[in-house]
Amino acid sequence: MNTVWKLPQLKLDVSPLWRSSGGLQLPSDAPSKLTEAWNALITKCKSGNLGFFDWPDSSECAHTLEQVHKLATSLRGTYEGALCIGIGGSYLGPAALQDIFLGTPSKEGFAVHWVSNVDSAAIKKAEHFLSSRKCAVVIISKSGGTTETLAAWFYLSHLFRNEDIVVITDPREGELRRLSNSLGWKSLSVPSNIGGRFSVLTSVGLFPLALQNIAVHELIQGASLMNKALMSFTADENPAALYAYSKYLWDISGCSIDYFMPYDSRLKSLAEWYVQLWAESLGKKQITTQKAVGPNPVAALGTSDQHSLLQLFKEGPRKRVIGFLTALEADSPQIGKPNFDSPQYSFLSRHTFNQLNILASEATQESLINAEVPTYRFELSDLTPKTLGAFLQFQETACGLAGELYQVNAFDQPGVEESKKILRRKLDSETPSSML
Ligand code: PA5
Repeated sequence: MNTVWKLPQLKLDVSPLWRSSGGLQLPSDAPSKLTEAWNALITKCKSGNLGFFDWPDSSECAHTLEQVHKLATSLRGTYEGALCIGIGGSYLGPAALQDIFLGTPSKEGFAVHWVSNVDSAAIKKAEHFLSSRKCAVVIISKSGGTTETLAAWFYLSHLFRNEDIVVITDPREGELRRLSNSLGWKSLSVPSNIGGRFSVLTSVGLFPLALQNIAVHELIQGASLMNKALMSFTADENPAALYAYSKYLWDISGCSIDYFMPYDSRLKSLAEWYVQLWAESLGKKQITTQKAVGPNPVAALGTSDQHSLLQLFKEGPRKRVIGFLTALEADSPQIGKPNFDSPQYSFLSRHTFNQLNILASEATQESLINAEVPTYRFELSDLTPKTLGAFLQFQETACGLAGELYQVNAFDQPGVEESKKILRRKLDSETPSSML
């Protein structure tokens, strides 16, 4: 079985997952399980019920790219910035990509500010952002009815005219669609068959990024390349399937804590996107048995968390799988020589900060392998939209496939929906008990 793959824009090595202590034994029914899971996923995609996989190559995606480009160009010519409001899958993807491509947002040019975790401080920051520039507002909610998003929008709405407003929501349903239809707000649609946490490559992610002049068509190009690569493998040799399968096997054998650890602060929010994708898709009751299943994904950041968590990873109880993520960077600053003598540390001068981080991740992985802790590694060839498009598509496909292995519906979120309903009821009829 192959365990190292060179895929479009990235390399994946899961071999340490199969070598670690007691290692994983490849179950004899692995090929049939993988084939069954892969076929089930592809059948859902082909039936039209599940849209994320075919999206990058669809005519609807090409049309969305045109719409996004046109509207973003027009807004960039009219406004100095945009306030984006959204949460969960309507925030984590675009915010992660924004952090990666823009690094530190410049004070010049078109600025985008997010309201996501709706609280008094976030609202005050948004007001401050809006007070210093002429802004459009983009309200993003697949359902069109998420309470926090609507609360922020209700509060801030008086600062905008109808022509300043863009809504990104379901094509037909929900309160935001109703409002945009009746009040003539501009709108973009999220395909009905692509759910929140799988929507980063739809207008949900494309529009906020296009506003910041990011080459969003390259994200789609990368995703499409990844699709073609994945479709060229048989199910039992498919890297997305084997990645999902090896993590699944570790989970059910007791290593259920799934750390995802990028080594670059720009990738920190990408780890948060990863956590939502794997947690909300898989932490559920099995369809047939109602048994509670699912991994426990956690975000970490190298090298900071080496100085916080590594001791636990290495010598604590064996409950974790650690996934490393690094990215090659052509223009990383050289550490260089200091303006004092430090002969014992002269080796530092030869390296860039990118090399320092990659070597640190390799050192950490080696030490975990020595301690027989299960690990794996993604290496991105750079931090361009094309590469991130490929990576996102890979993760979404692997996660969808994992849903078949866990025998859950990876594409719903009944646990979240119930609390949304309870909150609506409480807001309608109650005062918080701590205030009574
Ligand atoms: O993945 C999901 O469906 C959720 O995390 C949603 O993205 C989140 O609850 C926000 O929902 P909405 O986009 O409908 O406002």
